Amino acid sequence: MNAGTGAPSSRAPEPARVRDMFGAIARRYDLMNSIMTAGMHHRWRRRGVAAAAVAPGERTLDVCCGTGDFAFAMLDAVGPLGSVTGVDFSRRMLAVARGKAARSGRDVDFRWGDATSLEFDDHSFAACTVGFGVRNIPDLDRVFAEMTRVVRPGGRVICLEITRPVKTPFSQFYAIWFDRLVPALGRIVSRNGSAYSYLPDSVRRFPPADELAAVMRGAGLKNVSYELMAGSIIALHQGTK
Ligand SMILES: C[S@@+](CC[C@H](N)C(=O)[O-])C[C@H]1O[C@@H](n2cnc3c(N)ncnc32)[C@H](O)[C@@H]1O
Repeated sequence: MNAGTGAPSSRAPEPARVRDMFGAIARRYDLMNSIMTAGMHHRWRRRGVAAAAVAPGERTLDVCCGTGDFAFAMLDAVGPLGSVTGVDFSRRMLAVARGKAARSGRDVDFRWGDATSLEFDDHSFAACTVGFGVRNIPDLDRVFAEMTRVVRPGGRVICLEITRPVKTPFSQFYAIWFDRLVPALGRIVSRNGSAYSYLPDSVRRFPPADELAAVMRGAGLKNVSYELMAGSIIALHQGTK
């Protein structure tokens, strides 16, 4: 992926392949997340929600919502008078998200959609979030252009993503954990080693945090900044429309 070129990367995975892969691991996705991150992924999403700076009663969108955890975290911030919509193109991931919503009595509008072609009007939401999703999308410029389009002026676009640490000892830890242990765990827990070999591959292909910030600026966002968390393995980017 070349930041800001507008052209899809030839190295990025085919959307249909990505969809099938997430469909295949949907039922074990949450369990794998908790094991891989020692439960820290919830805390990272809460940081993302805080960065969105939304007020109770506002309307927000989470793209690539998967099993819904970012959307649920956002629902806590906008409260009962607000609303959260989650969009994903894997029906199986959406089914898990809807099941969790029904069991916990949380009202999120989970619906099928493609993050690169959103069905919503311009300026529809106070904020738009994406968690661990854009890494899977070939045309980064397009997804950020869409996220920016549907946010109202002054609203924020938030991106939480895995990134590759460059400094030791984190880079060494990362190499052992993500490149070796995660695929092995994926084989055992989700019975799908290829999906969890795809994970480190997709992070390797993904632009570093500086380049991702440039993509977001290219989409028209202002005051773009990012913070690195968890030993520089997680990047939280934010920008304002
Ligand atoms: C790693 S999961 C992340 C799920 C969730 N956001 C989270 O924080 O755990 C990536 C999700 O992105 C979805 N996805 C990938 N490309 C997409 C696209 N173009 N449009 C909508 N969803 C997409 C996949 O189906 C998958 O559910």
